[in-house]
Amino acid sequence: MKAEMPHAQLDWDDHGRPRSRVFDDVYFSDQSGLEETRYVFLEQNRLAERFAALPADGRLVIGETGFGTGLNFLCAWQLFEQHAVAGARLHFVSVEKYPLAPADLRRALALWPQLKPLADQLLKQYVAIHQGFQRITLAEGRVTLTLLIGDALEQLPQLDAQIDAWFLDGFAPAKNPDMWTAELFVELARLAAPGSTISTFTSTGWVRRLLNAAGFKMKRTPGIGHKWEILRGEFLGWPAEVAAPIPAKPWFARPAPLRGERRALVIGAGLAGCATASSLAARGWQVSLLERHASVAQEASGNPQGVLYLKLSAHGTALSQLIVSGFGYTRRLLESLQRGSDWDDCGVLQLAFNAKEAERHGQLAAAFPEDLLQWLEQPQAQARAGVGVAHGGLFYPEGGWVHPPALCQAQAMHANIELLSHQEALELRNVADHWQAFDGERLLASAPVVILAGAAEIKRFAQSAELPLKRIRGQITRLAETADSRALATVVCAEGYVAPARLGEHTLGASFDFNSDDLTPTTAEHQGNLAMLEEISSDLLTRLNINEQPLENLEGRAAFRCTSPDYLPIVGPLADLQTFNQTYAALSKDARQVPDIACPWLDGLYVNSGHGSRGLITAPLSGELLAAWLDNEPLPLPRSVAEACHPNRFALRQLIRGK
Ligand SMILES: Cc1cc2nc3c(=O)[nH]c(=O)nc-3n(C[C@H](O)[C@H](O)[C@H](O)COP(=O)(O)OP(=O)(O)OC[C@H]3O[C@@H](n4cnc5c(N)ncnc54)[C@H](O)[C@@H]3O)c2cc1C
Ligand SMILES: C[S@@+](CC[C@H](N)C(=O)[O-])C[C@H]1O[C@@H](n2cnc3c(N)ncnc32)[C@H](O)[C@@H]1O
Repeated sequence: MKAEMPHAQLDWDDHGRPRSRVFDDVYFSDQSGLEETRYVFLEQNRLAERFAALPADGRLVIGETGFGTGLNFLCAWQLFEQHAVAGARLHFVSVEKYPLAPADLRRALALWPQLKPLADQLLKQYVAIHQGFQRITLAEGRVTLTLLIGDALEQLPQLDAQIDAWFLDGFAPAKNPDMWTAELFVELARLAAPGSTISTFTSTGWVRRLLNAAGFKMKRTPGIGHKWEILRGEFLGWPAEVAAPIPAKPWFARPAPLRGERRALVIGAGLAGCATASSLAARGWQVSLLERHASVAQEASGNPQGVLYLKLSAHGTALSQLIVSGFGYTRRLLESLQRGSDWDDCGVLQLAFNAKEAERHGQLAAAFPEDLLQWLEQPQAQARAGVGVAHGGLFYPEGGWVHPPALCQAQAMHANIELLSHQEALELRNVADHWQAFDGERLLASAPVVILAGAAEIKRFAQSAELPLKRIRGQITRLAETADSRALATVVCAEGYVAPARLGEHTLGASFDFNSDDLTPTTAEHQGNLAMLEEISSDLLTRLNINEQPLENLEGRAAFRCTSPDYLPIVGPLADLQTFNQTYAALSKDARQVPDIACPWLDGLYVNSGHGSRGLITAPLSGELLAAWLDNEPLPLPRSVAEACHPNRFALRQLIRGK
């Protein structure tokens, strides 16, 4: 069985307008989709005046059911550009069960030449849109779009956000009764910010009554075109007769937003630190990026090529959800880098090199749609690879390799980011609501917010010393391209990986050594890497003419990965461990207890670490997650995934297990 067809199935009418086959309904009005959108959604939510009233560090969050062609989004964005001051931000969260295929989106948006400059930006970023939360950064961070791909009733309960204005779209209630339900409206109410507004093109009586019952005060208002009446409303508050939503547990609740200057110190300039600095800078923060080396990406993030490798689970685990969301986010970031030298979307082939892998691949091929991964039998796999391979495997057409330093440099380049190189922080002190980074008695830098992004080195700070991070040494081998190795057309992985050449050199990786502290490359590990290459493709090994040179001449590079016990990264606010243990001691007797006591946060101290072997996929989106925690924004991941990455999870588990 194959995963459900992921894309919208469309018919196009004589005027080139799309119509849904599944719902037998139109995406926008026959008369003037633009005018209707502007009247029903923008005017009824008073967006022009609300955008104009935003302060320079303000933002407005719009939520929508049914992203469709993105017409509502583009109209809202255009209005925002017309009315909002520089510095203000628009956040748009939209849920979509059947996203349009990119070619269909392009065709639909070509109907609106007025929106072309914005539509072009959206189309450029409309890649790797898969199930779950997909974040898209537009207009250099001024506009953030978070698409929740899936059914509204499955996706919205996972959303952690406060919506200022709701666009209730999603085909006519009579054509789509499964969506227009009391259950959905309760979700809209749960997510509504105080004073939130809402509008919809329908005036159906039962929709109005159910929205009223959920806490909105709905009014009929004159319609437009052939719509006689439409509905607008505002959120009055949670109705007394409905059970209140369960709040986040205190140890996973949002710390109170910090008031005052938006200035942060990020310690460590690898993928995690550069991503964090970039996400904060895009939100108007002033960021100092502290790094002990001369420039960014000198340690784990310094390899010539890393692979966008998706180790997924067919069971929808938190890690697998993070990987699909993180892959999409990184993949979209790469669109603005140089193909060929900074990255390449040559695809990734994962070989089913033993029976267990083959079984796992079968499950994955059934669980995920073909635009994310495809099962290839050996002959097709070999044709894809361009060199001989002994097995079939999973092909990820949107995957490829990345030169991690290029991504780090691009992210650290923002005008709001100042790189403080050759500075090594040894200690953190909290003085008068500021965190100070010291090297002995020398003050290096200070800020109200500090983000620890120094991989496993963050254990040196007393505040984060107990986080269970491990270093795992890894070594890659650099192999000169030959005329025959040029045939390699895609990244191929088995236990190791090999990439098509970048600037005349293939990267072959990577060893795992849990014990060594030494970063000098060893011949033994090069040999191990070559053994992995043999497993991947003995044909490629021959094509590389390796046996004609002494092994000692092989060149490579070693660095430490930084891994957590559950293989999820550690991203979020830090608490004071001792006080945490005292505050929630009751959990060690009864794990179901939820003491109503606020978490003892170390105000302003955050972590972005533990990215293991897949930092290219997890670190950039983790920067967005941290910025969302810090700026009290919609989270870019499901609540459950953000909690699975939360620094407090370890202290909590330890209390509960009594270890
Ligand atoms: C051999 C190898 C192969 C890999 N292959 C892949 C792959 O194919 N795909 C993939 O996605 N991932 C891969 N990874 C993993 C990936 O490289 C990491 O997940 C990622 O680089 C982690 O980024 P980071 O910013 O957390 O850590 P790092 O890149 O290690 O950055 C931490 C930075 O913090 C600085 N720092 C630390 N402490 C301090 C301090 N106190 N003061 C100042 N500066 C400090 C360090 O100097 C360093 O620059 C590989 C890793 C290795 C080692
Ligand atoms: C009328 S279109 C939306 C038009 C869109 N807002 C625009 O600007 O183009 C309705 C959309 O709702 C989506 N939809 C319908 N039912 C849904 C559900 N249960 N969950 C999520 N999306 C749904 C459809 O796939 C379709 O794209």
